[in-house]
Amino acid sequence: MNTYNCIAEDVQLGNEVQLSKFINLYGCSIGEGTKIGAYVEIQKNSSVGKHCKISSHSFICEGVVIEDDVFIGHGVMFINDRYPRATNRDGSLQTEADWKVERTVVRKGASIGSGATILSSVTVGENAIVGAGSVVTRDVPPHAIVAGNPARVMRVIGQGTSESKASTLVPFLDLVTPHAELEQELVGAFRSCLRTASFVGGSIVEDFEKAFAAFCHTDHAVAVSSGTDALRFALIACGIGPGDVVLTVPNTFIATTEAISQAGALPEFIDIDESTYNLSVEMLQSYLEAQCTRDKTGRLISLRSGRPVTAIVPVHLYGQMANMDSILRLADEYGLIVIEDACQAHGAQYFSRKHDRWMKAGSMGRAAAFSFYPGKNLGACGEGGAVTTNDSAVAATIKLLRDHGQAKKYYHDVEGYNGRLDAIQAGILHVKLPHLEPWNAGRRDRAAEYNRLFAGNKAVILPYEPSWSRAVYHLYVIRVDDREDLISHLKAAGIGTGIHYPIPLHLQKAYNSLSYGLDAFPVAERAAAEILSLPMFPQLSANQQARVAEEVDLFVAQASSTHSELKDMSLETTAKSA
Ligand SMILES: Cc1ncc(COP(=O)(O)O)c(C=O)c1O
Repeated sequence: MNTYNCIAEDVQLGNEVQLSKFINLYGCSIGEGTKIGAYVEIQKNSSVGKHCKISSHSFICEGVVIEDDVFIGHGVMFINDRYPRATNRDGSLQTEADWKVERTVVRKGASIGSGATILSSVTVGENAIVGAGSVVTRDVPPHAIVAGNPARVMRVIGQGTSESKASTLVPFLDLVTPHAELEQELVGAFRSCLRTASFVGGSIVEDFEKAFAAFCHTDHAVAVSSGTDALRFALIACGIGPGDVVLTVPNTFIATTEAISQAGALPEFIDIDESTYNLSVEMLQSYLEAQCTRDKTGRLISLRSGRPVTAIVPVHLYGQMANMDSILRLADEYGLIVIEDACQAHGAQYFSRKHDRWMKAGSMGRAAAFSFYPGKNLGACGEGGAVTTNDSAVAATIKLLRDHGQAKKYYHDVEGYNGRLDAIQAGILHVKLPHLEPWNAGRRDRAAEYNRLFAGNKAVILPYEPSWSRAVYHLYVIRVDDREDLISHLKAAGIGTGIHYPIPLHLQKAYNSLSYGLDAFPVAERAAAEILSLPMFPQLSANQQARVAEEVDLFVAQASSTHSELKDMSLETTAKSA
């Protein structure tokens, strides 16, 4: 005790309370071992628990309950009446009797930063942290870190005292860990290229091609320099060329349509299925029946462009296969070539009723294109791609196309391209290929875990996997209403996200000339506005997934409380103006 303090007789002080100078306490209780700094005032009917630290200049007013182990910074201000007035209607000064004291609770282990203001009636949850200078206007969830005015949840920290979760960043994609795990073998692949001076073509590329064809259950895999080239070469090798129309979806990466245009053809779009985001078989059928005609020679002609429709490029988006049996049946009926865009679907499987077995992506169309861009399920350490096919003539043409049209050095059968996969990338891909199955299994496990974590969250639409699909979750894509706000919330919490893709191709500037307007493909347009890709990679930890789910849940809870507050306010306003 010291002489400059004002401690009323009714104050209950626990053992070993430490009091600084110039404090003012009355009608309150202070728990054992608590330390109170200079110039603190604690009013009647308030309590401070054991082992708390109340820093100087803080004001703890009537009705505040501070539980054990709480830290209060300097100059923290509590408020116990939301709508205080100086005078009554008759002009007389208000007294204590006019004030409505509302209870405010700071739960065990919470910390409140200097200069924060805590409005009345709120509960600061257990172990929560209120950032310095925040203005807390509503309850703070347990273990949450809040900051700002009004205070918003920035992130959630682990249970107990661990802050490991708070410091857990969740990248959208981790390309460092898998390469670190395989570093020796990858460096070995690079070294053998250096030592044999094998940089373009040769046995390193051929060996990888054989292994990748075996993985895809196809007769051939022809390695090329990118997924875009794989598509372009596949289209050209299958005979698609100038004047043709090729059908595809509007919600793919632009490489799909670039390849179609670069083959000389014209892309036309078909809308997608609402639940799988892949080509809608119903829309394809209705396009073929209602938006095409036959010319004198029996060719299928697009009414939109007046050009012959010759091919379909279904995209196995996000690692889930399009409904291939139905697409192939329609293609057969209308004499169309099918080229799969499997750039996101290495190892995905489709149960074909026609063949009564599971079939791999890339093994069902006339040809298929894969991308080995680094972030893909099987990614190079640079650019790469491959065409798979069971058609030997198509494979032979692609080998020509990728290598300046030459079957023998400087003997050019056709004009081709510089589209080879270099040997260093082939060697690297070959090292990684045996890991693709376990990596895909890891992605499927993580997708199942996300599904479990989000099961109770009605605001989140989960990816849908039909019974005939075994997706490989190149991306895990949810659908939400307030996507942009959720992205900002997750970003603030250190969680990476992506949008695949924000603008459907028919609305891209690059395709103004195709003259599709808004509403041309309503399902794809709706999806583009709501889809959100969450972190997904085989090394994603259970903790990281829990963090993502916690933050999404928190965001949804906050958004719904904000909506109800706004609703309340508008009801109040309506009531007042009525
Ligand atoms: C669906 C789709 N098609 C084609 C491509 C093109 O592949 P690349 O980037 O290897 O040229 C990609 C790559 O992102 C893709 O996602």
